[in-house]
Amino acid sequence: MNRGVKKWTFQDRIIAPSLLAADFGRVAEETTRAINAGGDWMHLDVMDGHFVDNISFGPAFIQAVHETNDVFLDVHLMIARPDHYLPRFVSAGADLITVHVETEANHDVATTLQAIRAAGCKAGLALNPATPFEAVVPHLGEIDLLLVMTVVPGFGGQSFMEEVMPKIEAGVKYRADHDLHYHIEVDGGIGADTAAIAGAAGANVFVAGSSTFGARDMGAAVAAIREA
Ligand code: DX5
Ligand code: ZN
Repeated sequence: MNRGVKKWTFQDRIIAPSLLAADFGRVAEETTRAINAGGDWMHLDVMDGHFVDNISFGPAFIQAVHETNDVFLDVHLMIARPDHYLPRFVSAGADLITVHVETEANHDVATTLQAIRAAGCKAGLALNPATPFEAVVPHLGEIDLLLVMTVVPGFGGQSFMEEVMPKIEAGVKYRADHDLHYHIEVDGGIGADTAAIAGAAGANVFVAGSSTFGARDMGAAVAAIREA
């Protein structure tokens, strides 16, 4: 399994095409297309209609992707009770599971992050544009990835919010000061131009939906983000 052999570090620049922008009726072909275009991880946006104002797909869809392609699956849970559904996403083949710090009101985020790692997955923590960096600080020693949202989550195709860049810089500084190794991912409105801005701030994982699946030449679009 390639995804098990490859050791990704925060020094790697990782491109994660978001299947939210793919043709759901041809998910296997779309995943293969993204891999052939140079995508490193597949980003899977799970939305429950509660935590965000949209409904996307669940574990069965992720399992379909997992069964047709051996690619690292980056699962972004935009759901109110990630703890409750966790085992189903693990069984579906998730390699990395990211939960939102804003769901703390519904469950204990620290316990959920530990459960993700105990299940053999990488653990990610996301924060929305309106959430201050301080909210994630108590958890930074327990994560493999920090996801700094560059749009309000819920929909693809929105505009990149440059004003959240200081949170990326704070994540880089905290990581160095505490000798930690988490990735910093950006998600929302990412294309070559905005990847350059987020990369300069210190992000190394770039989620891109419409700019990759919607491109005439997906390979060129992925390469442009990588080289930005
Ligand atoms: C937004 C999702 C994103 C979305 C990004 O709620 O978390 O992953 O797919 O889409 P684009 O790249 O089109 O902004
Ligand atoms: Zn996402």
